[in-house]
Amino acid sequence: MPVITNIEDLRVLAKKRVPRMFYDYADSGSWTESTYRANESDFAKIKLRQRVAVNMENRTTATTMVGVPVTMPVAIAPTGLTGMQHADGEILAAKAAQRFGVRFTLSTMSICSIEDVAAATTQPFWFQLYVMRDRDFIERLIDRAKAAKCDALVLTLDLQILGQRHKDLKNGLSAPPKPTLANLINLATKPRWCLGMLGTKRRQFGNIVGHVKGVGDMGSLSEWTAKQFDPQLNWGDVEWIKKRWGGRLILKGIQDVEDAKLAADSGADALIVSNHGGRQLDGAQSSIEALPGIVAAVGSRIEVHMDGGIRSGQDVLKAWALGARGTYIGRAFLYGLGAMGEAGVTKVLEILHKELDLTMAFCGHTDINRVDRGILLPGTFPT
Ligand code: GLV
Repeated sequence: MPVITNIEDLRVLAKKRVPRMFYDYADSGSWTESTYRANESDFAKIKLRQRVAVNMENRTTATTMVGVPVTMPVAIAPTGLTGMQHADGEILAAKAAQRFGVRFTLSTMSICSIEDVAAATTQPFWFQLYVMRDRDFIERLIDRAKAAKCDALVLTLDLQILGQRHKDLKNGLSAPPKPTLANLINLATKPRWCLGMLGTKRRQFGNIVGHVKGVGDMGSLSEWTAKQFDPQLNWGDVEWIKKRWGGRLILKGIQDVEDAKLAADSGADALIVSNHGGRQLDGAQSSIEALPGIVAAVGSRIEVHMDGGIRSGQDVLKAWALGARGTYIGRAFLYGLGAMGEAGVTKVLEILHKELDLTMAFCGHTDINRVDRGILLPGTFPT
C-alpha cells in the first residue's frame, strides 16, 4: 500500500481501482476540457505572502457556511453516480463528512437515496436538486429532503442541458454498467470494486428508480438528461422552489455578475460560483477567476461560495482570501472514495485541513475568519 500524502496520490489509486467508465466520468470536462484545466491552473498562478515571527499557536479553521458551523470552509459537492465510484459511496462520504464536521451534499443523480443516507447518518446533510419536467416528482423530492431533515437545498441552475463529454459517450456510461465485452474485460481488473458492488443492492439511481412512473432502467445518463431535465427552468421556478422548500437555499452554477445579482435578488442564502467542474460550457472562465467580480457585486447581499479546481488546502485558503465563504470539493473527494472508500474520504478531509491550517499559519494568521486578500501577492490574483 503506497503512503498517501496528497490528493494526487488518491487520484492515482482511484484510477487503478475504479472501472474506467466511472473514473472517466469523474475526471473529465466537456469538449476540449479547457475550463476544466483552467479551474486548477488558475489557482496555481496565485501567489501567497509568507510572514515570519508571528505567534502561530492556537489556530482555528472553524467557521460557518450559511449559518451551519463547520470545522473548515469546505463542503462535499454533489456529484452524480457517486455510488459507482465505490459501493454505497454516498453513504460512506456522508459518514466521513459527519465525522469531520463538514457538510455532505447529496446529488439528485446519486445511487444511494436520500432515505439511505439519512438512515446511515445522525447529522443533517444537504440535498442538491435538478429541476425536471415532471414537477410532481420535483415536489416529492423536495418533500423527501425535508423529511430526511436536510438543512440546505442546493439548487443547480447550470445543467438543463448537458455539456458533451466525449469519454462518457465513447464509454457508453450507464448505471449499472452494461455487460458488454469491453466492460467485462475492464471489470475483471477491478476485483475490489466488483466485490463491493456484489455486497450492496444499491446499483441504480436511488432517488429516481421506483419514484418516477415508468422508470425502471435509466439507460444512459445523456439520454435521461435530454428527456427529463427541464430546459425551461427560470427565475420564477427558483421562487416556487424556495417557497416549497422553506429552508436554507443555495444556488449553484453562477458564473456571471448579472446572474449573481438575480441570485441575490431571489433571497437565496448563498450562491456557488461554479462552472460545474468544467463539465458544461467549455471556454467559460475558471471559477477562481470569476469569484472576485461576483463577490464585489453581491458579496454584501448574499453569501458567496465557490467550487472548481480545489485540490489542496492552499486552494481553499486562496478562495477564502478572494471572498468565498465556503468551497466545495467534487473530484478531490471522489478520488479518495474510489481509492479507499470511507477511509479515503476521511483522508481527503484530513489532507485538506492540514494543508489549510499550515498555509494559514505561514501566511501569518491563526484564525481563518480574519484572513483576507492581504495574504495574496499583489498582481498575481484576479480582481
Ligand atoms: C452531473 O452533475 C454531471 O456533471 O455529470
